[in-house]
Amino acid sequence: MSNVTSAHGMWSSKMMFILAAAGSAVGLGNIWRFPYLAGENGGGVFVLAYLVCIFLIGVPILVSEILLGRAGRQSPINSMRMLAKQSGASSFWQVIGWLGALAGFMILSFYAVIAGWAMSYVVEMASGNFVSINAEQASTVFAEFTADAVSVVGWHSLFMALTIYIAARGVGKGLETTVRYLMPALLVLLLVLVSYSALATGHFVEGLKFLFSPDFDSFNVDSLLVAMGQAFFTLSLGMGAIMAYGAYMPKDASIIGTATTIALLDTSVALLSGLVIFPLVFANGLETGQGPGLMFVTLPIAFGQMPGGHIFGAIFFTLVSFAAITSSISLMEPAVAWVVEKLDSSRAKGAMLVGVIAWILGLGSAFSFNIGADITLLAGMTFFDTMDYLSNNVMLPLGGMLIAVFTGWVLKDQLIEEELAGDKVWLNLWRLITRFVAPTGVMVVFVMTFL
Ligand code: PFF
Repeated sequence: MSNVTSAHGMWSSKMMFILAAAGSAVGLGNIWRFPYLAGENGGGVFVLAYLVCIFLIGVPILVSEILLGRAGRQSPINSMRMLAKQSGASSFWQVIGWLGALAGFMILSFYAVIAGWAMSYVVEMASGNFVSINAEQASTVFAEFTADAVSVVGWHSLFMALTIYIAARGVGKGLETTVRYLMPALLVLLLVLVSYSALATGHFVEGLKFLFSPDFDSFNVDSLLVAMGQAFFTLSLGMGAIMAYGAYMPKDASIIGTATTIALLDTSVALLSGLVIFPLVFANGLETGQGPGLMFVTLPIAFGQMPGGHIFGAIFFTLVSFAAITSSISLMEPAVAWVVEKLDSSRAKGAMLVGVIAWILGLGSAFSFNIGADITLLAGMTFFDTMDYLSNNVMLPLGGMLIAVFTGWVLKDQLIEEELAGDKVWLNLWRLITRFVAPTGVMVVFVMTFL
């Protein structure tokens, strides 16, 4: 029998778990990363590959992660150790927890830098600096801001301090209000922006075509890896964040239903962001493949042209920053929960320790856009690109594949049946995908890319 509650506390309701997990999933990955990757990787085919990865590989692994978390009720590292033991398997499987905690540090390190950019744009918007701005000016503002190492690190530090503060208070407090009210607000503002893109840019159809009509010539194997990495990143999968949250999930909630809801919500936010951004790109003669600056260059133009846009813009970037915080605290959770278990320390100390290490690592990414732009690590990539590539394109899919293999082949049947008792109709399909489709899918993409 697995534990009924976790020593770290529990979500107050089923709804709270959905909110927390959706808060983790919806973040910069949807609004900032998805559009720029789609832009760099040829639009439609990338989106298609991304959607296939989300629903064929992502959702089943999401189910596995929640299941493992709820069956283990501890930090991912200790849950994996316990579940492997209960299933009579080798303690090697703990590697899922370790790999995940490491990926969490790496992602959090650069995530906090980009979230810092978003926070600085709140002030920038509110000050009216973007009113009636054109494409060239918006690009210059962005380039000047990211070139200023001191202010980038200032915002990065502020964001990390907030993350540490919230994670230290415990994931329940504060999260509920943030997710319950601010996420719907974010969705509403996104819809307002989509309407703006549809009605005012005159290039909506071009944007739609770019995102949804696959041009197979522009696709290559590397883009497939990027699409798969993004599917993992956006669903917060493969590193134990959802496993950690699943540990605090009440026993009576349906795992498959919850996972599907989260994936649908997350995908909608990503697609809506794309529908906002690409018409703006085409209307203003911007590059689709300009990289991480895409959102920061396009949105100010739209807000700059709208009546009252500086207020809407400030609100929008505030909501993006909140969406980023609800994700960053989940990036920390596997490591924080482990520190609390291992060192018997308080959450506050755990969060501080994890946050400070990630902050130091983040300096490398903060400097990748200015004083360290010429420093390259892996295959000519900057520090930021290297962290992003290794964590999202390699570690998350690898972690996800191990999770699928473990739940599909190793985990004791009795545990699975207990956890998925309310999901009988889907059990066999889930089992089939978890055993065969998901691990093979990840393997095939790896083999195609790295051989
Ligand atoms: N899913 C988050 C986003 O899309 O912004 C990022 C993320 C959070 C990735 C937590 C991984 C994770 F464990």
